Amino acid sequence: MAVFSFALLSLLVALEASASVTVRKTGRGPTGYEVEFRYANPTAKRVLIGGGMQPFTDQFHATGTDYRFNGRYDPHDYQPGDFYISNPSPRLPAEPEYKWPYEMTQSRNEEGLWTYTTPLPSGIYSFAYLVNCNYAPNCTIDTGHLVLDPDLPPFMNVRGDQVASSFQVPFDARFQASPELNTNFDYALDAPDPKRHRGVVKTVNYTSPGSIHPAPDVHDFAIYLPAEYGRVPGKKDYPLLYLSHGAGGNGADWENLGRMSHVMDNLIRLKHIPPTVVVTPSFYNLDPQGPLFIYGNQSNNLNVPIPPAQAVRKNFEQFLFPWVEEHYDVCRNASCRAFAGLSMGGVLTHEMFVNATDMFDYYGMFSPATSGPYIDAAAVAANPSLKEKGIMVAYGLYDFVFPAARNLQTALDAVGIRYITRVTPFGSHYWNTWQDELWWFGQKVLWKELPFTVQTGRGKRC
Ligand SMILES: *[C@@H]1O[C@H](CO)[C@@H](O)[C@H](O)[C@H]1NC(C)=O
Ligand SMILES: *[C@@H]1O[C@H](CO)[C@@H](O)[C@H](O)[C@H]1NC(C)=O
Ligand SMILES: *[C@@H]1O[C@H](CO)[C@@H](O)[C@H](O)[C@H]1NC(C)=O
Ligand SMILES: *[C@@H]1O[C@H](CO)[C@@H](O)[C@H](O)[C@H]1NC(C)=O
Ligand SMILES: *[C@@H]1O[C@H](CO)[C@@H](O)[C@H](O)[C@H]1NC(C)=O
Repeated sequence: MAVFSFALLSLLVALEASASVTVRKTGRGPTGYEVEFRYANPTAKRVLIGGGMQPFTDQFHATGTDYRFNGRYDPHDYQPGDFYISNPSPRLPAEPEYKWPYEMTQSRNEEGLWTYTTPLPSGIYSFAYLVNCNYAPNCTIDTGHLVLDPDLPPFMNVRGDQVASSFQVPFDARFQASPELNTNFDYALDAPDPKRHRGVVKTVNYTSPGSIHPAPDVHDFAIYLPAEYGRVPGKKDYPLLYLSHGAGGNGADWENLGRMSHVMDNLIRLKHIPPTVVVTPSFYNLDPQGPLFIYGNQSNNLNVPIPPAQAVRKNFEQFLFPWVEEHYDVCRNASCRAFAGLSMGGVLTHEMFVNATDMFDYYGMFSPATSGPYIDAAAVAANPSLKEKGIMVAYGLYDFVFPAARNLQTALDAVGIRYITRVTPFGSHYWNTWQDELWWFGQKVLWKELPFTVQTGRGKRC
């Protein structure tokens, strides 16, 4: 029996700061894996697990328009083909109408210890402990009701930058294979050979005059450097992908919540793409006059507006792009540069496509929350290279931006711009969907020959 223990429960001496998540292969149903959470908190009256955990549904009981009508299955009742979706609105009903499935119980043997064990299928799960808080969507870190796992800290630059930890459960075909849907997310597991296949991911501070976080005139991003980076003498021109977060997020999201580095390791290992550098920037806190956005300041953040894409583009052009070129061995022309992003990051990608057309040859609009006005025939006549780019428009079948993404595609159709589509069949506005979109963006779009044709993405690997 394989045991992946992400953190060991330290002795109950240090009662207030101790927790663990253990993923076990069980060889039995319903999923072939179970996950055990242990959390020590002697003063808690009730502990739920939330912060990203979702109930399950299946495709016969799922809707992108009203969350209340989705399956809402407890994973103990898992059946092949089940998946989780998340849409922010309207929220799930509260008790007593709906009881949240992830509830810890107090251990009879060890005082102050809370445990919960559940089968889970393949996928990434983000979570936090909800202490003395009965309605998961209302439990926030700044009110003290949401507690991060002290022994499985999130990937982040500074404290407060993330509000959930995450873990990944493997696929077991014996229990999870479904004739109706492929829900195997193993492409986001650790690549097998650490030395040969696993790149490095880290946070970086860069000089960005006017920035108000993490320090005055200092802004940050996360960077993925592929396994061979720095080991190939003379190689100075790695292809470069910028990958943006969405509203209410930051540059650590793609790694913490989407395991971007694992997806990249596996795309490279399986020769879908050559070794590629990824930068995940942050688009909040660039404006010295603007309100401060700190992820962990959840109650306050509802009032922080989304920075306009044009202003973010101009800021990145001035400070981020030159800094990255100066400090890393990345290529120097559009043919090996891409920009992609999710939701409002998809809007930023669209802005880059329209107004930084010469900077990038590849664009990935993942669950784009775009709204018009879109480019028209006159815009294309004035900037013909808009038609020569490698574009993906991707969104989930149950994604609340589905209509917006379709409108974008219709607008591109109207001016004769070709693009690759991915409609994620289990997809909502959430990280399992964006992982899937990055995975297919790598396989079908990145660094393919331009202009795209109906044969693009059907050919050999690199
Ligand atoms: C959740 O918070 C909202 C906004 O503060 C409030 O209106 C609602 O009643 C809360 N719901 C529950 C179940 O506590
Ligand atoms: C970036 O700067 C902040 C604020 O000074 C600091 O707390 C953090 O550790 C720095 N991060 C890195 C990766 O240097
Ligand atoms: C959270 O927001 C409040 C209100 O704007 C602010 O006073 C406080 O400094 C913020 N906290 C952090 C850690 O940024
Ligand atoms: C762009 O850079 C790559 C990598 O250095 C190089 O192979 C390619 O020839 C360059 N393309 C153009 C159009 O300059
Ligand atoms: C691009 O720039 C133009 C001119 O500044 C602006 O009107 C437009 O909103 C920008 N973005 C897009 C996506 O068109």
